Amino acid sequence: MKSDMNADGRTRLDQTPEWTALAEHRAKLGEVRLRELFDADPGRAAGHTMRVGDLHIDYSKHLVTGETLRLLRELAAAADVFGLRDAMFRGDKINTTEDRAVLHTALRAPRDAVIEVDGENVVPAVHAVLDKMADFAERVRSGAWTGHTGRRIRNVVNIGIGGSDLGPAMAYEALRGYTDRDLTVRFVSNVDGADLHEATRDLDPAETLFIIASKTFTTIETITNATSARSWLLDGLNGGASRSGEAESAGQAAVARHFVALSTNAGKVAEFGIDTANMFEFWDWVGGRYSFDSAIGLSLMIAVGPDRFREMLDGFHLVDEHFRTAPPESNVPLLLGLLGIWYGNFHDAQSHAVLPYSHYLSKFAAYLQQLDMESNGKSVGRDGEEVRWQTGPVVWGTPGTNGQHAYYQLIHQGTKLIPADFIGFAEPLPELGGELQAQHDLLMANFFAQTQALAFGKTPQEVRAEGVPEELVAHKTFKGDHPTTTILARRLTPSVLGQLVALYEHKVFVQGAVWNIDSFDQWGVELGKVLAKRVEPALTEGAEVPGLDASTKALVAKYRELRGR
Ligand code: F6P
Repeated sequence: MKSDMNADGRTRLDQTPEWTALAEHRAKLGEVRLRELFDADPGRAAGHTMRVGDLHIDYSKHLVTGETLRLLRELAAAADVFGLRDAMFRGDKINTTEDRAVLHTALRAPRDAVIEVDGENVVPAVHAVLDKMADFAERVRSGAWTGHTGRRIRNVVNIGIGGSDLGPAMAYEALRGYTDRDLTVRFVSNVDGADLHEATRDLDPAETLFIIASKTFTTIETITNATSARSWLLDGLNGGASRSGEAESAGQAAVARHFVALSTNAGKVAEFGIDTANMFEFWDWVGGRYSFDSAIGLSLMIAVGPDRFREMLDGFHLVDEHFRTAPPESNVPLLLGLLGIWYGNFHDAQSHAVLPYSHYLSKFAAYLQQLDMESNGKSVGRDGEEVRWQTGPVVWGTPGTNGQHAYYQLIHQGTKLIPADFIGFAEPLPELGGELQAQHDLLMANFFAQTQALAFGKTPQEVRAEGVPEELVAHKTFKGDHPTTTILARRLTPSVLGQLVALYEHKVFVQGAVWNIDSFDQWGVELGKVLAKRVEPALTEGAEVPGLDASTKALVAKYRELRGR
């Protein structure tokens, strides 16, 4: 095998003429100055915007010329991004290491769509589950579904982790303004007992519904928390009395009213003791981090109601259709994916900040961390060979303006290039009162000010003109040329949330396709799980664990000493 070829016989990405052209272009461009790009082209702002659904995307503040974008699109064409996209939408098994189709797009397809996996149209099953969820959600919301003692459900606790937590938790937070405020909805993920304790300590078991969300129903954190939640429920309903045989069977009946499961694994759900009639199904072609628009979104649907949930799915679908059909020149996920490749592969940027100027999106970056980093945190290509180019970035961020008073200093004046997405909305939610409505303009003034400051900075001449003493001029200079994308919409609605998430899903897809990695497996999480299982008896029983390294062994001994064992 020649080293400039992949093991699958294709030219290695970094040996393609398109990659070389980009590398040469980058060298020729040198230090791009955004001031110069804007001075040279008065139409740059207007010419560098795109629209998808309700999202207005401004990418004028990027270190790119028309030539850069053209070369990036050629790279995408050479990597056959759209070929892989079509294979995904078709239901081909593009998750090759797990031999699975990747069909989160089917979760939001309209009722009459036809999408086949192994010759079977999956859309009717998707809608059957959505209908079952809607029926259940309505019964909980109306009070028709009651707890074991006949009391109305007032609290919903979702127990899940990773994709079975981050998606619904993020979306619940994002759509809080659309939720039934009489319901308390909480999310428990951490195997640290403190999480479940804090989520339940002020709740009445008789009014609490647990939703156990786990694709596999084998995830140790979730099963452990679910088991503890069951004890909490039964103890609470029993008034702490010890459980006799009679109480035990009453316990089963109680579990049936207070526990439902979201899973692909009916066998394990039944084994846990949840009636599979109370299970909401999804399928192996839904990746965990792509799943909150499946049954995994039940807690969200209960909170916002089925109609709002459907609006969200329609928002997803709108962007799916855009990604599937828009030409490369106006395809927003393609653009965002390629911009990330430009910085990661040709400017050596290591991270990507996502900075929503909406308190409701406080969990958005955490959600994207799994979506992006679990998808594209890979170093082996689809051909089984080590890749020789950077893959997924470190994704991070918190809502503005909080970050401005913490880490923006480093973005403005540090030594690292950190491309950032600024996400903002023209209108706050209507339920915010008079003064809070007015605060929105201040929030957004910061939003616009930051991208301007990052792009154009402040020259030493401008600093001097303010009378700043010479010894402080360098300190008060802002170099600028920090690239940002601005994503602006009128309001954060369920549809807009769906649009935003689909946009990032497909951006991640584009990048994985170019880098020639499988964005849909996650083997990198396995080793830690296996080792944790092995180490646990060393902590609890002081068992001799074969293969424990000297450092970990010493730490375990220290732990036992501190724990008084
Ligand atoms: O360990 C990682 C992971 O498999 C994620 O991909 C997934 O979202 C999470 O664990 C939870 O998995 P499950 O839904 O099967 O409990």
